[in-house]
Amino acid sequence: MTLPFDGAISDFFETDAPRQVREAIKRADKDEVLDPAFPYSDMLGRKPYEKDMDRLQIELVKLQAWAKESGARIAILFEGRDAAGKGGTIKRFRMNLNPRGARVVALSKPSDVEATQWYFHRYIDHLPAAGEIVFYDRSWYNRGVVEKVFDFCTDDQRDHFFGQVPDFEKMLVDEGILLFKIWLTVGRAEQLRRFLKRESDPLKQWKLSWIDVEGLKRWDAYTAAIAETLERTHTAQAPWTVIRSDDKKRARLEAIRHVLLQIDYARKAPKAVGQPDPKIIGGPDLWHG
Ligand code: ADP
Ligand code: AMP
Ligand code: MLT
Repeated sequence: MTLPFDGAISDFFETDAPRQVREAIKRADKDEVLDPAFPYSDMLGRKPYEKDMDRLQIELVKLQAWAKESGARIAILFEGRDAAGKGGTIKRFRMNLNPRGARVVALSKPSDVEATQWYFHRYIDHLPAAGEIVFYDRSWYNRGVVEKVFDFCTDDQRDHFFGQVPDFEKMLVDEGILLFKIWLTVGRAEQLRRFLKRESDPLKQWKLSWIDVEGLKRWDAYTAAIAETLERTHTAQAPWTVIRSDDKKRARLEAIRHVLLQIDYARKAPKAVGQPDPKIIGGPDLWHG
């Protein structure tokens, strides 16, 4: 299958990518973390990753069992730049869960009818019922970021959205829904390295879209839109959790651990859950353009 934008990523890499980004990618081996600001220089090894992941998976199974017993409703939303690792993280969460009760919500662009509805309407349709864990792979935060960067909404619509988000999320939390907002943050060089891999891998090409290709040139516009979104939507009731995802393995472990740490589920084994790594996970302060 040939994609309409076949070769666009390598073209960008060769001609338009910032010099430091291009050089970082060329120089690095596959386990090296490209971003000089990342707190580790190498990716986490497979063995420590699998050891921790196996223990966390057992805890997730207990979490789901508890949710079914207690009727808890859990909504976890994932945001981040393209290729930040949202889909892969959600996949690890769901690996050993009963899919009935652990749903992914990955909505495409609004239909003509949806575009006339209240912006939150189609997301509300998918909120969890008793015993369910719902994973939003992108969410209402499209209005804060991608819709701004690509002019899919007006500035007035976006302001209106920012005005409503805190109240909207407060209602979800008051209702008793356990709401998590996870922001995966990836550096520019790592993002481009992942795109190059997707371009050359027939099993990964489906993940590339016109938005990704066009978005490469709009790194700084994304940075500005993300900064404003985090600033205006980090509230006491529904705070953001930021996770550095240049190293996917560390990011996945921290995301799962975070959710487990926040919930008081039955039969929890605190040692298996472990402690967060503050170099990898924190609040909006951890985010840097
Ligand atoms: P993903 O990275 O989630 O696989 P894309 O990169 O293609 O998907 O698109 C990013 C987001 O932008 C998606 O949530 C998509 O629904 C949204 N989007 C794409 N086109 C439009 C549009 N015309 N109006 C509003 N949202 C859009
Ligand atoms: P510049 O070429 O200095 O304009 O850099 C453009 C963008 O690339 C900035 O947002 C930098 O933070 C980012 N950047 C530069 N070098 C790297 C690198 N090695 N890894 C990740 N991001 C980088
Ligand atoms: C991700 O990897 O962050 C997403 O799931 C896919 C994408 O944004 O291209």
